[in-house]
Order: sequence, then C-alpha cells, then structure tokens
Amino acid sequence: MSGIEVVPSGDACGAEIRGIDLAAGIDDAEFAELDAAFNEHSVVVLRGQAVTPECQIALTKRLGGIDRYTFTEHAHPDHPEVLRVSNLSQDGKPLGNPKAGHTWHTDQSYVEEPPRCTLLYALEVPEKDGVVLGDTLYASAAAAYDALPEEMKQKLDGLQAVHQFAARKRGGGKNKELTAKQKADHPDVIHPVVRVHPFTGRKCIFVREGECTAIVGLADDEGLEIIEMLSHHVTKQEFIHRHKWQQGDLVIWDNCALQHLAILDYAPPLRRHMHRTTVKGTKPV
Ligand code: SIN
Repeated sequence: MSGIEVVPSGDACGAEIRGIDLAAGIDDAEFAELDAAFNEHSVVVLRGQAVTPECQIALTKRLGGIDRYTFTEHAHPDHPEVLRVSNLSQDGKPLGNPKAGHTWHTDQSYVEEPPRCTLLYALEVPEKDGVVLGDTLYASAAAAYDALPEEMKQKLDGLQAVHQFAARKRGGGKNKELTAKQKADHPDVIHPVVRVHPFTGRKCIFVREGECTAIVGLADDEGLEIIEMLSHHVTKQEFIHRHKWQQGDLVIWDNCALQHLAILDYAPPLRRHMHRTTVKGTKPV
C-alpha cells in the first residue's frame, strides 16, 4: 500500500491527491498512481507542498519532458524552464507574467505539439477579508464532448480547425498586436476539432473562440458559429471545477482534456505569485 489517497472533487473533473510529499521524493509506484489519477481526473491538486524549482522541473521531466515556452521574458532568472506567473514587481519591473490565462483557453494550442499538461505551484495567494481570490476554473472538454447530441458528434467528426497564435495573443482585444516577425515565427496550425486523448482514448473538444479562427473547408460564418457554439458548450457550469488556491498547492492540469480560466479579481497590494512549467505533448489526432 502506497498511502496515496485520491479524493475526487465531485465535479466533471478534479481531484485532490493526498499522501505525497514531493520534496521527499516519490518512487516509481507512487508516480504511477499520481499519473493514473491525473489521467482519470484531468486536474489534480497536491496541497501543502514545499516545491523548489528543481523539484518542479524534475516532476515535469518525469511527466513527459520539459516543453519550451514561446516567450522567455517572464522566465525565472535561475531556471529558464520555470515561468513566473505573478503580479509582483521588483525595481518597477514585473517579476512575472501578470496577465496569464485571464480568458478561457488551452495552453499553447497554437503550436504543432501542444503541451500535455501544465504544473502551477502557488507561492503566494491573494486574500481579502478572509476570502481567497484568484481562483482558476477548469472545464472538462471530455465531459462536454460526451454530452453533445449524437447528430452534432457526427457533424464534428473529421473537422479541423485553424489555431492562430496572433488571435490568442490578442486575447479578445486586450493584448497588443504582434510584430511581423512574431507572426512569421508562428504560422497557423491545424488541429482536429475533436481530439482523442493520447492516454485515456476519450474524445475531447479542442476548439476555443479567441484561439481558433476558422474550420477548414467551411465558410467563415459557419466555421465561427461552430467554434462559438462549442466554446459556450464547454464552459457550461456542469463541466466546471473551480480551484481555490492555498499557498503550497501544486496543481497539474491536462491541456488535452480541459480548458481553463484564471479569475482576475485581485490587484496590488494583494499578491499572487506562482511558478509554472509545462510538459511536452504530442500532435493532436
Ligand atoms: C495559466 O493559464 O497559465 C495561469 C493560470 C492561473 O494563473 O491560475
């Protein structure tokens, strides 16, 4: 018996994993349990962890290898594999990315091989009048696919969508336009509208408005209508798990099976500071 306990959230995704101390190290059997629970629940939290960048990097490698970030400006100065997601500043300069994930999205869907999963470790969590702020919402794109009418599943079968880096960076109009070089470095990529999960075999909706600009072979209006309809469908309340952060949480989420949103309901002097790494993925099929 490993002593690991998996406590499902009761939502369409999400579980807490107890009985693991990442700083003390985990053996292969414990890692296999963690990996299996992760694949089953799509987003898992390990509470009360003391995770150094080295420890986070080691777990990221074990889950499939470090994925490189498109941008390096918010990388940890001593550990370029670690991106800082933070609203803190030092000498007037932002310490990390203060704007990560404030619209529904899938991490880096705009690359040929989007990351398998993302690890986010909470160093500081904002709290006001005893209320924790800065929650992250996770929507199960697998449960959302299962709930589609049969006729819609057939209509989506074989369709492919265009994922555009520039559209994602515009973030619904909140971010700046890209330079010509940035656009040239990130050509549009095409992924199936419904992808098959590489570990569970479950079908998952893999389109999002603000990331996808068209459906291959369909007129613009028709394609955008499908993208919009699926985006609204995935984020229905019944598919969502809301994570309330505690300092010392390590959350791992599955970028194939989920879409997620970081809630921006805090501002300095409230502090939110996190370390993020991503695990290599495979080309969606
Ligand atoms: C992200 O989408 O990478 C950030 C999520 C968060 O800060 O909760």
